[in-house]
Amino acid sequence: MARPLDRLRAETFPAVRGRALRPLVRHREMQFPTFPREIHESIATMQDYFRYATLGLAVQRVLDERIPGALAELGVWRGVTSAFLHALATERTLYLFDTFAGFPEVDLPAGADDRRFRDTSEEAVRTRVGRSDKVVLRPGYVPETLVGLEEEQFAFVLLDLDLYDPTLASLEFFYPRIPPGGYLVMHDYNNPESEWACKRAFDAFLADKPESVVEIGDMWGTALIRRAG
Ligand SMILES: C[S@@+](CC[C@H](N)C(=O)[O-])C[C@H]1O[C@@H](n2cnc3c(N)ncnc32)[C@H](O)[C@@H]1O
Repeated sequence: MARPLDRLRAETFPAVRGRALRPLVRHREMQFPTFPREIHESIATMQDYFRYATLGLAVQRVLDERIPGALAELGVWRGVTSAFLHALATERTLYLFDTFAGFPEVDLPAGADDRRFRDTSEEAVRTRVGRSDKVVLRPGYVPETLVGLEEEQFAFVLLDLDLYDPTLASLEFFYPRIPPGGYLVMHDYNNPESEWACKRAFDAFLADKPESVVEIGDMWGTALIRRAG
């Protein structure tokens, strides 16, 4: 059976496209990967190279430094990033939170008709990520689907919910459950969508915390912190 990273590479980047892109990305690849070359190669032809290189590096750091806890992704859609995260850390529990039916109406501005991200399902995500008892889907409305996980620790949390209220509620839940050295990654930090919802929530939450925001030069403006000791 194909290993998760091989499967991911084959599914996400058909060989022809991967070969065609390789000369274009070679000059921007990390010369000194601080994670295994095999991981780096699975990233090299990703459209958002810098985002996935950063996520890969963070997960590898968590493993190398034995930061305890599960991984979590909030806002999963079709599970492309989830499959990447699971392939990097197959022995860690990966919690996946989404309605798996698009944005909850309650969090959209009045009159907004945003139908994005409805084209998915739990079954589609399970198929893409792989059927492992380490992959735990929590379908439904965040923050309601956080209930029951109060005793968990999280070494790596990726927030990609796009909207202010569930993002702030997630920060309040996860931050105290991330041990020193653990990662909290905010997708869309520099994305003006929803009146800068992600940046507003991250900045407001971190205003009285010791960690500083580090911005990444990727396509969608990711930012992150590592929990202080
Ligand atoms: C940008 S997409 C996630 C993309 C995904 N992280 C990836 O890399 O492909 C945002 C997702 O957040 C989900 N979402 C937004 N608010 C939510 C909430 N309160 N509860 C559950 N899911 C929510 C939407 O259903 C949508 O699938």
